[in-house]
Amino acid sequence: MNFTGAHIVSIDQFERPDVEAIFAVADRMQPYALRKRVTRVLEGAILGNMFFEASTRTRISFGSAFNLLGGEVRETAGFDNSALVKGESLQDTARVLSGFSDVICMRHPVAGSVADFALASRVPVVSGGDGANEHPTQALLDLYTIRKEMADRGRSITGLKIAMIGDLRHGRTVHSLGKLLCLYTDVEVVLISPEKLSLPEGIVELMRNSSIKVTHYDDLLEGIVDVDIVYSTRIQEERFPNKREADLYRGKFRLNQAIYTEFCQPNTVIMHPMPRDSRSDANELDCDLDNNPNLAIFRQADNGVLVRMALFAMVLDVVDSVDAHSHDVRWFNARQN
Ligand code: CP
Repeated sequence: MNFTGAHIVSIDQFERPDVEAIFAVADRMQPYALRKRVTRVLEGAILGNMFFEASTRTRISFGSAFNLLGGEVRETAGFDNSALVKGESLQDTARVLSGFSDVICMRHPVAGSVADFALASRVPVVSGGDGANEHPTQALLDLYTIRKEMADRGRSITGLKIAMIGDLRHGRTVHSLGKLLCLYTDVEVVLISPEKLSLPEGIVELMRNSSIKVTHYDDLLEGIVDVDIVYSTRIQEERFPNKREADLYRGKFRLNQAIYTEFCQPNTVIMHPMPRDSRSDANELDCDLDNNPNLAIFRQADNGVLVRMALFAMVLDVVDSVDAHSHDVRWFNARQN
């Protein structure tokens, strides 16, 4: 695909070479993300960062990625702080914001809303998640993490066996990741969830049609036995019409060090898009896993900055100018000590 000026709203847009191109640019962003070099390539550019749903990682990593490329960020967080509460349409918001911004990132609780917003925008729009539909940049950073973690183990994405665990019905990250894995060969996906929270049939069908082997379990201990990656997800209580229904499933798929030691392979990578629900009745990934070197969740979050920097550089067509506008850092860098 041609990235210049493109909206990024769904994994459906990508072919495998597009994904490989994003990962190659993300690799090149490492010195900037690690504060070894500073680039000002996007000096003067403005990101409009509009989050109409709660977020910590996605919002801040989009903003950090843009700042690390030298651009500035203007934000709206929550409906209450925007004119949407006064009845303004998303289309009018898009027309206005695209007059102020060079690129817009947006999260919204309604499926399809980011794509609708993009239709009215005069500048590229990157999705930060639309309801229970998709979270394309999360899937890209997840696969980028998988690729790195497997490479550290002398493996590649080909031949991978991954367990997706938890609320697969409402979890937009697994929807996008499932689609993304379809671009790779010899991949096996183990779906572990209660039947009512199973992955939408359309995505299962896409995976099967692309030659992914798919199996289902509702028991965590049976499903995780011989996988390379466990990808745990949160019960998305905000997507249930009745929160009490979400309570029925909370805590059903807890992973802790004792379970990991007994049931997982010694090198199984532990992933989660985060936030992990650490409340005692959920405790999805126990804190006793925090010293397990295979817990990749914080490396995964760090990789989000690299992938989002790559997307900004590609969409705004500055990939080949990043280094030319760079210099060494001038401040004490705690990361290098
Ligand atoms: N992974 C993710 O989307 O996290 P946030 O909700 O904190 O953005």
